[in-house]
Amino acid sequence: MPKILVTGGAGYIGSHTCLALVQGGYDVLVLDNLSTGRKEMVLPPARLVHGDLSDSGLVRELLHREAPDAVIHFAASIVAPESVAAPLKYYCNNVSTTASLALAVVEARVPHFVFSSSAAVYGTAQGCTVDEASPVEPITPYGSSKLMCERILHDAALAHPGFVPVSLRYFNVAGADPEGRLGNVTPDATHLIKVACLTALRVRPVLQVFGTDYPTPDGTCTRDYVHVSDLADVHVAMLRHLEQGGRGGVFNCGYGRGFSVRQIVETVRKVSGVDFPVEHVDRRPGDPPSLVADCSKLVKATGWKPRRDAIEDIVRDTLEWERRRLRQAAD
Ligand code: UFG
Repeated sequence: MPKILVTGGAGYIGSHTCLALVQGGYDVLVLDNLSTGRKEMVLPPARLVHGDLSDSGLVRELLHREAPDAVIHFAASIVAPESVAAPLKYYCNNVSTTASLALAVVEARVPHFVFSSSAAVYGTAQGCTVDEASPVEPITPYGSSKLMCERILHDAALAHPGFVPVSLRYFNVAGADPEGRLGNVTPDATHLIKVACLTALRVRPVLQVFGTDYPTPDGTCTRDYVHVSDLADVHVAMLRHLEQGGRGGVFNCGYGRGFSVRQIVETVRKVSGVDFPVEHVDRRPGDPPSLVADCSKLVKATGWKPRRDAIEDIVRDTLEWERRRLRQAAD
């Protein structure tokens, strides 16, 4: 059974990916410092090592002892607005750790390395969709930190031919495990679908729509919302691609279609059956008008097939997860 070391596997995308890996027949070992992740998000038989990536002795020992076939690296600081106020935290937590982890992985001769990158590398993208050759001009230290990591991995691959890294540029990740086992537990989440669902469930009084004067069909921003379980499947498909000798590189991860903020509001109202209040406010700094993935490179390389791309399903799974958490909190 191939073994995968997953950093940040107790977090939102990491935990869903561990579940998909287990279902795909992999032996999964998670390394997480539980600063934002939760140990109950690591579902057995995946195993959790509570430790920090900056502990290079621990990382080396794990790589030596467990001899994984691949490393998937999620652990990072991920709040873009926070990164503007605390850039050095982002460069230390994201860039330094990725460089030292990659060094340990190369030294341990682990061939495959899958890195969680972000559509934030594109910054204020132009055009209907962006592909991997589109200009990369991040507008936050968070986006810059992800781009720097991509470049570190690219350079390492040139210098070490046995090392095959992949950077997956996630677009707007949303939803929860359709069977209700996992979801987003991030406190104070700012993501549109989650916030809209919490408003429909009366946890929040009103949904603020940031900007209605964008150069988009209905004046609100357009995003490519991808179901977290489909994104988890991308990682499994990518490992299979690498195992078969496939090439590494950079891959967009989305569906290639966008929804505006207004469309999301209407979908959440329809799926929840609640006509919650909305307040139109000024633009939020740093929001590109439109960000939609051209993901043909990913599909061509891996044969990945989305299974939950209906926006109603993404919203329904988010709502169900939040309902379940409210029930648990009330008990
Ligand atoms: N929005 C609102 N009201 C809210 C929350 C969001 O109107 O309460 C709007 C935003 O202004 C934006 C859209 O909904 O236009 C999506 O916003 P999110 O906060 O859900 O997501 P972002 O597009 O800002 O960012 C997310 C991740 C980033 C990642 C990026 C890549 O948070 O880490 O997707 O596309 F880089």
